[in-house]
Amino acid sequence: MIKLDELYSGKAKTVFRTDNPEKLIMEFRNSLTAFDGKKKSQAPKKGYYNAQISATLFRLIANNGIKTHFDSMLSETEMIVDSVDIIKIEVIVRNIAAGSITKKYPFNTREKLNPPILLFDYKSDEYGDPMINDDIALALGLATMEELSEIRTLALMINSILVKYMNDRNLLLPDFKLEFGRCKGSIVLADEISCDTCRFWDKTTGKSLDKDVFRFDKGNLVAAYREAAKRIVPAISL
Ligand code: TMP
Ligand code: ASP
Repeated sequence: MIKLDELYSGKAKTVFRTDNPEKLIMEFRNSLTAFDGKKKSQAPKKGYYNAQISATLFRLIANNGIKTHFDSMLSETEMIVDSVDIIKIEVIVRNIAAGSITKKYPFNTREKLNPPILLFDYKSDEYGDPMINDDIALALGLATMEELSEIRTLALMINSILVKYMNDRNLLLPDFKLEFGRCKGSIVLADEISCDTCRFWDKTTGKSLDKDVFRFDKGNLVAAYREAAKRIVPAISL
């Protein structure tokens, strides 16, 4: 596989074209941002930990029969993925109240949300990722009703898989964000699943092992990501 020109560079990842039009290379960088890019930083090995965690979780999900864009790892921080048509919806699954939901609604942090709450945000930096419902998604032409229904089913299945996997590793999964795409007539899981896009809490201490460490200055980000990677990725070299 030959790496060609850059297609897109986001806040934490860069996507490159390859000599195969059906495949892209997604590079996980050490940069990180929060609050719509207002807070910015760099953290050594952060791209490596996120890439390895994402690869592990994509493999886990694929082994459970759900299609993902993951193909293979090209290097420690570069993932080969299927080129998909990204659906501009951020799908958020919440099992325990944390973050923005405790600011917008009267939920107490650490309150269990059972059954899980599923939310859709419009993926748009320009509009600040506002929450949407099915009617807005349909009116904006983001997805069809059938696609929304399939996305909902897939997100809840992925939640069950991830909650069990994390629980076995002494981690809680309060919430996470997923993105889906269209590929060859199917809806497939895309983007990443990492410390940047999930909340991971140590089950014993309740400590954050995710981007909240950076968002809310809770300590050493690299140490937190390293600990998450150590638990999630079998035989990772730290
Ligand atoms: P929130 O509590 O800030 O709304 O975040 C909910 C979850 O979504 C959390 O696990 C972090 C993730 N997330 C992203 O992946 N990207 C984002 O831009 C935001 C705001 C949250
Ligand atoms: N991803 C968003 C940003 O980079 C927000 C966040 O994750 O808190 O600004």
